[in-house]
Parts: sequence; C-alpha cells; structure tokens
Amino acid sequence: MIRDDEVIHAVSVIAAKRDAHELSDAQISWVIDAYTRGEVAAEQMSSLLMAIVLRGMGRREIASWTRAMIDSGRRVDLSGLRRDGRPLVTVDKHSTGGVGDKITLPLTPLVASFGVAVPQLSGRGLGHTGGTLDKLEAIPGWRSDLSGDEMVAQLEGVGAVVCAAGADLAPADRMLYALRDVTGTVESIPLIASSIMSKKIAEGTGALVLDVKFGAGAFLPDVEDARSLAETMVELGTDAGVRTSALLTDMNTPLGRAVGNAVEVAESLKVLDGGGPADVVELTLALAREMLDAAGLSAADPAEHLANGRAMDSWRAMIAAQGGDPDGSLPIARHQEVVTAPAEGVIVSMDARAVGDAAWRLGAGRSRPGESVQAEAGVIIHAKPGDRVRTGDALFTLHTQTPERVAGARSALVDAVVVGTDREVTPGPRVLDRVTA
Ligand code: URA
Repeated sequence: MIRDDEVIHAVSVIAAKRDAHELSDAQISWVIDAYTRGEVAAEQMSSLLMAIVLRGMGRREIASWTRAMIDSGRRVDLSGLRRDGRPLVTVDKHSTGGVGDKITLPLTPLVASFGVAVPQLSGRGLGHTGGTLDKLEAIPGWRSDLSGDEMVAQLEGVGAVVCAAGADLAPADRMLYALRDVTGTVESIPLIASSIMSKKIAEGTGALVLDVKFGAGAFLPDVEDARSLAETMVELGTDAGVRTSALLTDMNTPLGRAVGNAVEVAESLKVLDGGGPADVVELTLALAREMLDAAGLSAADPAEHLANGRAMDSWRAMIAAQGGDPDGSLPIARHQEVVTAPAEGVIVSMDARAVGDAAWRLGAGRSRPGESVQAEAGVIIHAKPGDRVRTGDALFTLHTQTPERVAGARSALVDAVVVGTDREVTPGPRVLDRVTA
C-alpha cells in the first residue's frame, strides 16, 4: 500500500490494484473525486474497475470506496423529522431486484402505518427486473419527482414516500455504474455493495433492511454469492452508523401472480386489502417485521394492519400526496393472449428469469435508460409450482399494447415451465436466512 504523502496518479492506482495491492484511503478518494471531475479518463477508470473485479477489495477498501462515492454528492439529514413534536424514526428497505418484486408497494405504507417514516428512494427498471417507479407511474396522476422539501413534508405527514433519488445523491456512483454497464464490470461484490450502500447511506435513513435475492431471476443467482453480498452490505451500513440487516430470499420462481407494471399495482392492492398471493404476503410481512424491529417496535404485528385496513389507509394517503388518484382505474392492455400448458401433470418449476424476459419483451421494461415503458404490459401467471394442470389449461396471459411483441414473449416462455407426472411439489419458503452485523 502506498504512503499517504506519495503523489497519486491514475496509472499508479491502476497498477497497484493490478498487482493485487490494497489501495489506500487517499488513493481511493483521489481517484473517485478525479474521475467525477473528468481528470481521470473513462479508459483509466475502466481499467481500474476491471482490476477490482479480478483482484477484489478488502473491508477497509470497500468502506473507503463507499465513503468517496457518498462524498461526491449531498448527504441527506433526516434526523430532524418530527410528528406532533416527537422525533420520527426512519427505516428503509432495499431489494436487489427480482421478477414480480412489487413488495415496496404494500410494504412502505404498511410500515408507515405504525408511525415509522419510510423514505423509499427508488429507481426505474432495466432488463428483466421491473422498477418500482415504473409500476407506480401506472396510477393516473402519480408523480415520482418530489423536491427535498416535499419529501420531508410527506415523511412528517403521511410517513410513507416512494420517489426518485435526486441527481445529487452519490453522483460518482451514477457515472461509475454507467461505465460498469458497458465494460463488463458490474459483477463484483465489492462494487455492487458499495454502489447500493453509497446511495442508501447518502439518503439519510436511520435503519435499513436489505432483501438480497438469489436464484434464476436474481441479479446474483448463486446463494453463496448473494450471502456474501448481504454480509458486505450489512458491514458497510453498520460501519456507517446505519442499523442494517438483510434477508436472503428465493427468486427462482416469480413473486406472486403478476409481473409488469399496472398488473403488479393491482396485485399489491389485493395484499393491502388483506388478500393476495401467499408468497407476496409472506415476504411483505417478513420484511415489515424486520423493519419494525429496527424501529424499536418488535411487538408490533404487521398482519393486523393488512387485515384491519390501516395499511390501505396509509397507501391511499401516500398515493394522493404524490398527485395520484387512489380510486382511479388502472390501465388495461388492449391485447391479451393466453399461453397454455403443454402437458398434464404438476408444475415442478417456473423460471423467474424467463417470465421477467417475457414481461420485458411485452413492453413492461426497457433495454436502455430513458426508454418509455408500457404501463399496461405484463404477464399474469395462472398456475405456479405445486399446481396440477391439464394439457391446454391457461398458464399465462400476456398483456401488451403492441401485439407484434407477443411472439418474442412466447419464445421467452418456451422452456420456462417444467411439468412433471405423479409428483407432489411443495414450494419452499421465500425467506432462507437472516444476516445481521
Ligand atoms: N444496483 C446498484 O445500484 N448498483 C450495482 O452495482 C448493482 C445493482
């Protein structure tokens, strides 16, 4: 490791990591600051990122990299939030993304209904996993672009906010993520952990619960990679003074029975109304318990607020505060087609990735940042693993505004479902494990 008083330049930082040395705090803060200011060229940063992918980073280096990205922008301070003169506890949730993962929608108002402030800064979807903002924008009038003051007022009033992260939150991460996307350097646990945590720490939440997914539809399919990502993020949050825990959750099969935008909002409303698919309810309640525990409310029972309507009241207030009409009709696709079961038997597995790809091809997702998405597009799942089907029974209904997209979605689904004969299949729980500091 070089001494802090030595002159730092890009080539020496790249060479140090290439040769498997630890980078000093001074090297890391210099290189991120210089890259953000345009002093380090993209080809130099690409080279450093690839060296990090291949050589890794230790705990101190990852913490230092995260801090440098936070310091590239504004760090929000939510410690002054008050309701009725009393300080508000803030707890956020972050999911590494999955297919049919609409959990933020019921979870945010559910936790807020216990008097906790939930500042949920969310993003848009890219590829096979959907984005929370894209889903909520299916609600007529709802807007995601709140100012800092509007966000604070909503947290103090309603408690629940889902909005877009401002451009001044960890801007170095935004630049680095765009570069990683086109240089094959996304798949690195130190880089993923620091990218996610820089934004979450900068947003100023007091506590954070992470939903780290593994399986076919997850960002990191291997369970041990997902565990290692969870442990790294929990360490980063804890070291930064944010109470952080994680659940390791199964994303081999799509969550619930709706994948897309408006169709996921409709399914979330069923959960808020006390119903909805068992796996969506299971994960919503597990994450809510974890968040309430982090807020010091371990005796609270979130299932009660789904049953007695308080979570729904909180949802309605959250949607209305952001210009949405909680009673407005959700858009429905003009074109719908059914995909049928090819054989009789019990559904053994359903590949989440394939279903996510199908929804994306129908128009629910985008392939490049900035593209528009169809609020109406998506896939409704009629049978899940463990269900018995007969040849010709409906497996999926494909929803789109543009029928020419259906062929692509059908081809994505060709091998998505395995039907077995004479077998009992019992789907396992969604939550595999809990990771704490
Ligand atoms: N999501 C992020 O925000 N950053 C990554 O590096 C990967 C996923």
